[in-house]
Amino acid sequence: MRYAISYVSTVNPALSESEIQEALDFSKNWNNDNQVTGVLLYSQGNFFQVLEGEEQLLKDLFKRIKADQRHHNIITIFQKQIPDIQFDGYEADFISLDDRFQQKNINTYTNQVSLLNPAIQSSVRYILNKFTEGIK
Ligand SMILES: Cc1cc2nc3c(=O)[nH]c(=O)nc-3n(C[C@H](O)[C@H](O)[C@H](O)COP(=O)(O)O)c2cc1C
Repeated sequence: MRYAISYVSTVNPALSESEIQEALDFSKNWNNDNQVTGVLLYSQGNFFQVLEGEEQLLKDLFKRIKADQRHHNIITIFQKQIPDIQFDGYEADFISLDDRFQQKNINTYTNQVSLLNPAIQSSVRYILNKFTEGIK
């Protein structure tokens, strides 16, 4: 059975921009190597993440993520079994730092949402809109 987890969290304020980028890059690589799909975004001190993958793999990964000192206040939005369809790719990026933000990035993530499992798409779309609202 495939599984999906989504949460928001607060960055550890001691983290530098390059350390955040490191966490995003690591996540994107590991997830793509392990057939985990979804999206991880950083905006104005907060992370928003959607993970889709094999159930036990995802539960183990989420344990590691929750124990990670680089963020806290982890609020789970959903954590559930989803229909067994696999979508492509993992995206991880900043979406709001001034020197990086571009409207085309927002479009990339909106497109990424359309690659998510239909069972979670509408709630993810809703949260993504909220998440990006403040920077448009
Ligand atoms: C906001 C955030 C999201 C993360 N997302 C992932 C992820 O999707 N996949 C991943 O492998 N590691 C992710 N990590 C890194 C993990 O927390 C952890 O460092 C990594 O799995 C290595 O675990 P280990 O140090 O126990 O071996 C994330 C870290 C942070 C701070």
